[in-house]
Amino acid sequence: MRVLIFGGAGMIGRKLAERLAREGRIGDRTIESLTLYDIAPASPPAGAAMPVMVETGDLPAPGEAARLLAGKPDVVFHLAAIVSGQAEQEFDLGYRINMDGTRAVLEAARAADNCPRVIFASSLAAFGAPLPDPIGDEHIAAPLTSYGTQKAIGELLVSDYTRKGFVDGLALRLPTICVRPGKPNAAASGFFSAIIREPLAGQEAVLPVSDDVMHWHASPRAAVGFLLHAATLDGERVGPRRAFTLPGVAVTVGGQIEALRKIAGDKVAARIRRAPDPFVQRIIAGWPRRFDTRRALDLGFVAESSFEDIVRVHIEDELGGVMPS
Ligand SMILES: NC(=O)c1ccc[n+]([C@@H]2O[C@H](COP(=O)([O-])OP(=O)(O)OC[C@H]3O[C@@H](n4cnc5c(N)ncnc54)[C@H](O)[C@@H]3O)[C@@H](O)[C@H]2O)c1
Repeated sequence: MRVLIFGGAGMIGRKLAERLAREGRIGDRTIESLTLYDIAPASPPAGAAMPVMVETGDLPAPGEAARLLAGKPDVVFHLAAIVSGQAEQEFDLGYRINMDGTRAVLEAARAADNCPRVIFASSLAAFGAPLPDPIGDEHIAAPLTSYGTQKAIGELLVSDYTRKGFVDGLALRLPTICVRPGKPNAAASGFFSAIIREPLAGQEAVLPVSDDVMHWHASPRAAVGFLLHAATLDGERVGPRRAFTLPGVAVTVGGQIEALRKIAGDKVAARIRRAPDPFVQRIIAGWPRRFDTRRALDLGFVAESSFEDIVRVHIEDELGGVMPS
């Protein structure tokens, strides 16, 4: 099978590419080629079992998506996006990349005429307050940010292009991926990762919200697992509603810090400095807390079962399994 990743240089795209390169297959099908597309050049994973092509370009630019889809990939992971904070600040850019880019992928797949499995990374931001607790699969997507609106539009497009038989699509509402490795990004949710990542790296982290803020998380390793599972799912089993929320761990910020303390000790947990920021607090107030993800669970998606597991995944995957002091 041929696999194409839009957003192949991003955090999840990179991890997905590494896993595909290592395993050489999705389910029982061997990967014949892997193409990584991004506006920033992706690094091909070392020791890949298959040829890896690196392509760069601006996804919504005319002809770009069509150029990539002309190779008739069997599975397309559409992860390219600009994140919440940037999409809110740069209105036109957000719509161009997150909405026009998604439409371009779907149109190019339609023109290629081989009905690939297209897996679109959607977000919890598709939901907006007032929200029930937990939020069920049938709750209306009524976003309150531009990023969330762009993701909700993407979900609808994926379902409609699937209904028409142009693609066999799935829109996965990923939990907030934590612990995000590397440098902080422009996402308003960045502190959820920073309060674990920075203390484990011996640095101070700033916590802008109160300890009772609850949110929905899964690890980068779980995110890759979701995407791979989605690549093999029987579309008939999913039915016509192609967007759903994925499982995760509902935990308060206090619970996150407690998990860090249990695993890494008081000294590490003491590196979190509380500096309430009303701007961030206002954004977070409208965010979802937890979900009833019955549909995804029935379809076989699996996440971690505790935040301690999420911290352990970070230590194993990013710190070489070495517990910092
Ligand atoms: N990380 C999370 O917590 C999370 C949660 C929910 C949904 N998502 C979604 O999952 C996807 C991947 O997330 P991530 O954390 O890896 O994000 P990321 O920002 O690390 O990766 C996105 C990639 O898209 C690329 N991109 C941006 N504009 C582009 C353009 N014009 N043309 C081509 N490529 C372009 C970027 O260069 C980047 O490498 C995104 O769609 C994101 O919205 C992520």
